[in-house]
This record gives sequence, C-alpha cells and structure tokens, in this order.
Amino acid sequence: MKFFFIGFHASIITKLIFNVHYNERVIGFTMTIVAFYSQNASSELQQDWQERLNFYDPSIKLVSLLSKEAEKATTALLWKAPLERIKYLKKLKGLISLGQGVDHILKNDLVPENIPVVRIVDPFMAKTMSHWVLLSILSYTRDIYGYYGQEKSKIYKARKEIDFLSPKIAIYGIGEIGNVVLKDLYNLGFNVEGWSRTKKNIQNILCNHGHDGFVKMLKSCNIHVCLLPLTKSTNGIFNKETFSLMKKNSCFINAGRGDHVVEEDLLESCKTGHISNAILDVYKQEPLPQNHIFWKQENIRIWPHVAAETNPQTAAKQIANAIKCINEGKSPPNMVDKKLGY
Ligand code: NAP
Ligand code: GLV
Repeated sequence: MKFFFIGFHASIITKLIFNVHYNERVIGFTMTIVAFYSQNASSELQQDWQERLNFYDPSIKLVSLLSKEAEKATTALLWKAPLERIKYLKKLKGLISLGQGVDHILKNDLVPENIPVVRIVDPFMAKTMSHWVLLSILSYTRDIYGYYGQEKSKIYKARKEIDFLSPKIAIYGIGEIGNVVLKDLYNLGFNVEGWSRTKKNIQNILCNHGHDGFVKMLKSCNIHVCLLPLTKSTNGIFNKETFSLMKKNSCFINAGRGDHVVEEDLLESCKTGHISNAILDVYKQEPLPQNHIFWKQENIRIWPHVAAETNPQTAAKQIANAIKCINEGKSPPNMVDKKLGY
C-alpha cells in the first residue's frame, strides 16, 4: 500500500511536470475533456478523480458539466446529473456512470440512441456490499437492536434464542454484486438462494428466475435482500402484494434503489409486524427528508446510501480505459443494454 502511494504521487508529479513542458513546447497537444458531475460532491472529490485518472491517462481533464468548457467534452462522467445538459454536449461520444447503477442516467430516456452508456463494475464494491448485507443480516438474526436497548438499561440477560443458520435468505438480483453476496453468505453457512431474470447455474446454490421463481422465494424465505437494478420491470416490485406473500416476521433489506419499493406498503407491513425489520440504504427521495415517516418507525433502520460507495482508487483504471475506448470509437467493457435498462 505504502509503495502504491509513493508510486502514485511520484507518477502524478512526473506527469504534471511532463504535461507543463509538453503544453509549452508542443502546439496542438490535445486534452481529453471529460464533463464531470457528481451530485452533492465536494470539489475535493473531483480533484481526487482528476488525479487518479491522470495516473492512467495524463491527457484527461475533468471540467464541470455545468461549465461552458464542458461543451467540448467527448465523454461525460456522471452521478445523478442534470441530464438536460447533455443536449449541449455536441461532441459527446459516450456517458460513464460514476456508480454500478445506471438508472440515474437512463431515466426519462434523455440519452441519444447512438451514445453508449458504460458503468463501473468493481469487485471492491461487490465485496463492500457483501459486508453491508452480512452486517444487516447479522444485526437481524443476532437481535443487535434488542441487545443495544438492554445495554442502555444495564440489563444482562439472554433474549430469545435465535436459530441463525436456518432462516432462508433470498437475494433478488445476482449480477456483479448479488452473486458475490450470494456466494459469501453460502460460504459462511447461510441457507441462501438467488433470483435473476435469466437462468443461472451457481455450484451448490439454488438459483431461481422469472416470475415463478420470484413468487417461490417470496413465499419460502425469511430474509429478503434486494440487489436489483432499477428498470421498468423492477420499479415497485416490492409492494403490498409481494410483501403479503412473504412469511410473517420476515426481514426486508434494500440496497438496490428506493423505487424498487412502494414505501407506503412497506411502512404498513412494518407497522403490522408482518415485516419485523426493514433495513434500508436507498429511498425514493435522497437524502431522505427530515419529515419522512420512516424516521419514526422503530423497526425501519435507515442508512444514507453508503452500502457500497464508488471508490476512486479502485475504479479509476477502468474509467480511464472507458474514456480511451470511447474516444477511439471502440466498445468499452461494461456497456449497458439500454433496452433492458441495466
Ligand atoms: P448487474 O450486474 O446488472 O446485475 C443485475 C441482476 O439483477 C442480474 O442478476 C439480473 O438478471 C437481475 N435482474 C435485472 N432485471 C431483472 C428482472 N426484471 N427480474 C429478475 N432479475 C432481474 O447489477 P449490479 O452491478 O449487481 O448492481 C445491482 C444494483 O445494485 C445497481 O443497479 C444499483 O441499483 C445497486 N447498487 C447499490 C449500491 C448501494 O450503495 N446501495 C451500490 C452499488 C450498486 P440477469 O443476471 O439474468 O441479467
Ligand atoms: C450506487 O448506488 C451505485 O449504483 O453504484
């Protein structure tokens, strides 16, 4: 790690010096202008991306999507951006999502047909998500909130005994992230199965697909984990009807997107105790408004969309490569199927 940082900084300094001289001496040196926007991000974050991308490609220059200079951009690197700006980027050849999800880019069909959309696929993020899901599952199965409550009142007493290996766990969405979560839980001895759109074969693990597979998992599992992408087919997939198919006392965990859930239906299921615990990382409106009713519901646990954050250190290499491919007219890895929406 130490050597990485020394190498990283030394390389950046060398490249910056090189660039200054190069700019001074060679007329016509072309920068790769990339329009950048990350909602609520600090200027330090843009600077961090700038440096990390320059480690792989010194020609990349990030400019704010909202600036005039962005109109020269061939690529845009976006997270929850004002997409109306895209129509002013006449030289645009490709869009890159600053996260694994692309719903923020594909919503409202504002991206022209001929512009490819690329997303990050980062094993580091999949592992981070796996840790968060494990933490959420353990906090439910080991009754962590009950014990925290007892600790505050100095109560030294075992609560109801929990059989934490037999509850069945459903993972909805077993793509780049979900399949890592699925396998990690299996390897820890959990009883886990997965659901996807197309048929999957994962050694030793039951994989379901399609509508029948969905209903089967809703009915038979005790812990339900949503790791789906938000598309026209998955919008509102967890609603009154699907919650009612779940077993009484089920735990519902969502790190997909807020719009996967009909929030009023989840609230109602939590109020009646049909869903005994909901652990949420994502919401219809983010940040979750101060007056949102979820804050008051004791069996709903709130996380501020941090289950698996994009990490510039681990993701910069693939983004630099995607920018290069887009500029050279090549197909970059991890292109999104716009028709499917993920
Ligand atoms: P991915 O690789 O595209 O995998 C998506 C999975 O969902 C695939 O298994 C896919 O099935 C399945 N799926 C899609 N539509 C479906 C449908 N209609 N019915 C059944 N299954 C369906 O996506 P990923 O990289 O794993 O990321 C998943 C999502 O996680 C992202 O889109 C994002 O919303 C969310 N995320 C959240 C955070 C966070 O911090 N909270 C961080 C990163 C990502 P097939 O395999 O058959 O295609
Ligand atoms: C985060 O939510 C992501 O999609 O990467």
